Amino acid sequence: MKNYNYKKIRQKVKKLVKDACYSAHNHFSYTDWPYHILPVVDHSLYLGRKLKADLEVLELAAYLHDYAGILDYRLYKKHHLHGARLAGKILAELGFSKEKIKKVQECIISHRGSIRLEHKSKEARILASADAMSHITEFFDMCYLTFNIHKYETLEGAKWLKAKLERSWRKTMPAGKKLIEADYEQGLKIINKAILRKL
Ligand SMILES: [Fe+2]
Ligand SMILES: [Fe+2]
Repeated sequence: MKNYNYKKIRQKVKKLVKDACYSAHNHFSYTDWPYHILPVVDHSLYLGRKLKADLEVLELAAYLHDYAGILDYRLYKKHHLHGARLAGKILAELGFSKEKIKKVQECIISHRGSIRLEHKSKEARILASADAMSHITEFFDMCYLTFNIHKYETLEGAKWLKAKLERSWRKTMPAGKKLIEADYEQGLKIINKAILRKL
């Protein structure tokens, strides 16, 4: 018998992260919520079911993985570490299992593709993969990042985005690649058209 109410914990965590995404203090954009956090949750749960992982750990880690950077941009550089710290505090206050909190923290610490840290569990590997997969499935949001946030012009942006998608593809585990293969090919097709255009 569990001594915590998972549905209630999930509801509270979801609201906390959603509110942070839509807050005026979010340095990024509210689009983090529909085009990043929610797809990462979906991909994590999809892979978690396929690979028989702990879905509670995965779901909470997926909601909270970027929370620190969304909450306070000053924490962004080390948002994997601050995120794990904040998740520990939040989940302990909500009465989640101590053992599972540790697993959530491990997932958050190693989620970043740009900072190569050992994945200590199946759940940690899945979260890092789901994070990368969202860059491929949310192609339009990646265009926003490329051309609006980074301000690349067309050709430079196309090259940058292609490299980003290829990196994300390499970080995706085989079971995830199957799910997003069509999106990946479509994205590359659009990008290659811009790159191969005669100047
Ligand atoms: Fe992140
Ligand atoms: Fe992320």
